[in-house]
Amino acid sequence: MNKDYIKPYEWSIVEEGFDPENVEASESLFSIGNGSMGQRANFEEKYSGKTFQGSYIGGIYYPDKTRVGWWKNGYPEYFAKVLNAPNWIGIDIQINETELDLNTCKVSNFKRELNMKEGWLSRSFNAILETGEEIQVETKRFISLEYNETGAIEYAVKAINFSGEITFSPYIDAGIKNEDSNYDEYFWEILKIVNGKNNGCILSKTLKTAFHVATAMEVSFAVNNEKVDALQQTEVEEKSLHYTYKLNVSEGDTAKIYKFGSCVSSLNYPKEDLIEAAFDNVKKAYKLGFSKLLESQKESWSNIWHTADIIIEGDIKAQQGIRFNIFQLNQTYLGTDARLNIGPKGFTGEKYGGSTYWDTEAYCIPFYMATKDASVAKNLLLYRYNQLDKAIENAEKLGFKNGAALYPMVTMNGEECHNEWEITFEEIHRNGAMIYGIYNYVNYTQDFEYVPKFGLEVMIAVARFWHQRANFSEAKGQYVVLGVTGPNEYENNVNNNFYTNYLAKWCIQYAVECLDRVAQEYPADFKRVMEKTNLTNDETKQWLQVAENMYFPFSLEKNVYLQQDGFLDKELIPVAELPTSERPINQKWSWDRILRSCYIKQADVLQCMFFFENKFDKEDLERHFDFYEPLTVHESSLSPCVHSILAASIDRMPKAYEQYVRTSRLDLDDYNHEVHEGCHITSMAGTWMSIVQGFGGMRIWEDGVLSFNPQIPKEWKSYSFTINFRGNIIKVYKSQTECKFFNESENDVKMKLNGEEILIPANRSVIV
Ligand code: BGC
Repeated sequence: MNKDYIKPYEWSIVEEGFDPENVEASESLFSIGNGSMGQRANFEEKYSGKTFQGSYIGGIYYPDKTRVGWWKNGYPEYFAKVLNAPNWIGIDIQINETELDLNTCKVSNFKRELNMKEGWLSRSFNAILETGEEIQVETKRFISLEYNETGAIEYAVKAINFSGEITFSPYIDAGIKNEDSNYDEYFWEILKIVNGKNNGCILSKTLKTAFHVATAMEVSFAVNNEKVDALQQTEVEEKSLHYTYKLNVSEGDTAKIYKFGSCVSSLNYPKEDLIEAAFDNVKKAYKLGFSKLLESQKESWSNIWHTADIIIEGDIKAQQGIRFNIFQLNQTYLGTDARLNIGPKGFTGEKYGGSTYWDTEAYCIPFYMATKDASVAKNLLLYRYNQLDKAIENAEKLGFKNGAALYPMVTMNGEECHNEWEITFEEIHRNGAMIYGIYNYVNYTQDFEYVPKFGLEVMIAVARFWHQRANFSEAKGQYVVLGVTGPNEYENNVNNNFYTNYLAKWCIQYAVECLDRVAQEYPADFKRVMEKTNLTNDETKQWLQVAENMYFPFSLEKNVYLQQDGFLDKELIPVAELPTSERPINQKWSWDRILRSCYIKQADVLQCMFFFENKFDKEDLERHFDFYEPLTVHESSLSPCVHSILAASIDRMPKAYEQYVRTSRLDLDDYNHEVHEGCHITSMAGTWMSIVQGFGGMRIWEDGVLSFNPQIPKEWKSYSFTINFRGNIIKVYKSQTECKFFNESENDVKMKLNGEEILIPANRSVIV
């Protein structure tokens, strides 16, 4: 059973009524972040029930020693983990010396809201303590986008049926462990604890990586909205700093604490300046005050929504779903820092180590490219460019030569961190996604200059990898790629995964095409890159030999490309015939049963058709869709969006809609029964694509012209989205009866609608 407790609102995620069973799921769903740091929606006050505490800072990681059953040469020494960082949100509450703990008191009127329009999280509830006192609590908290090292909390407690003492104990806790630590170790060393009047700071350092982080707090109080001073008691412990303040209230009074927090790190400051920087931040926040900070938060989010929002009329759950996806993506990555990237769980959990996967290039780049300036997607590409040397080292460790690069499956700093042989060594299709990301960026933005300046070196190194990784099969008279895992991780060590072979061929051909263009148009860069890489004409000829003679498994009988050699030996029983009690199969079946089955975890052959749709005709797409979709279990969050887009492009709107609902509400309705571990951030970009590329039919084919082929699910009245196309803001609206384009820019924009050229004049709309 999927969870279904989130109330549908257009702009908010809302939970009503307190159910301890939902605490960890809600901690994920209501997470907040600002692209630089983020945290799960843990309660500020103590909670003794089941909870997963988490706050994370982008780029701060720990190389946790690899843990595997049997060591294999080539395994990385460590798995990088985004660190669960010192927690600044904690505020313990006592009422006449009885602790507030939602696990032990009687809770009513519980409501939690994540306001996506304005970027804040709130909670309200009544609690009756064991000792009989009743309080009403209202909290609001956010992590500022404008002051991106700062967060703020307003926490109000109203005395409903008593006069007495309300005790606030704000603290910073640096005694934090990662839930997913391999050896249950602490990753932090505490260097210094500084306490002051109403403020304090802990300086800590990550073990091994030696990142330094200062976490500061500043507090102030009010009773019935009048600022009050409260006497501070200080407790400095080995790994934490606690203050205690007692406020006297009469029945009906409301006592409030404001707590400002800041995390600063040695990524951005000299170590010796960190404490001061953190103090400066919280002092500034205190001076500005909660309301002003909140105003700035609303403005920042309003700017984001201006180019990112998608409006759906007539289906509130779909509306909430898409906004949730867009909101979480923006909480995870804003594109201002090329050292950061998009972890599959963002700042909402620890699974996947918070590191970078092929998800970024294959799924996230289109979203960031179309909803922000081109510089954001470029930063994502530069992240990989800056890690090229490591990718070459990584390939060398596996025996590749001559500057061949294998980008890691999972990484923080460019080194491979993944340590399952079937993925680390075999899931090499990720290398192709690096090049696909460049291709997509150049095609969308027309910033070809990225290629001579940066991209070409990556393309050469990746082409070298494919050239060396393929081998000539005497039996087939063609080149083959053996021992791989395709995107469908429910098959390992297969030969000739269609998607991988296709990418290998395409990467080489695209690299050669770019080399020719750079030679013509950017001779100085061409010379520099040739010298740096020692590339010769002979070598590129050898690459092309491989590309032009690549083998693809094909069934004449079914008239489809096969996912890999031997796929038809499997028993092809459609997913629809599996009892629901056996799904998800990755939680119900043994691994060997999964491997032998025909079930496909995520789009694989169809991933190829999604990337290279223009290389296949509509009948090809239909045949492959009809063959593979019934066998796909969509147990990776990355899957339904691809199927939704393809279904739309072959005019199967009911299927496209079904898969859209699944992708957009994957976390909100917990389809894969794992939302407590964190949200599926990277696939959220796929949800966005399902509307813009799927229903909207947006494509930029090789002619570079923006084109649309809009359709609308029958369940919706209308939908609209905005894109930033080469600096021009274009809004697209589609209802059941009309289609409208509004060009917000100063330039006329030429585009194609259902194949016909149209011109949308500057600052004008066109209704079709
Ligand atoms: C998927 C991969 C993906 C990873 C992180 C896995 O479950 O199979 O394709 O890169 O999750 O999202």
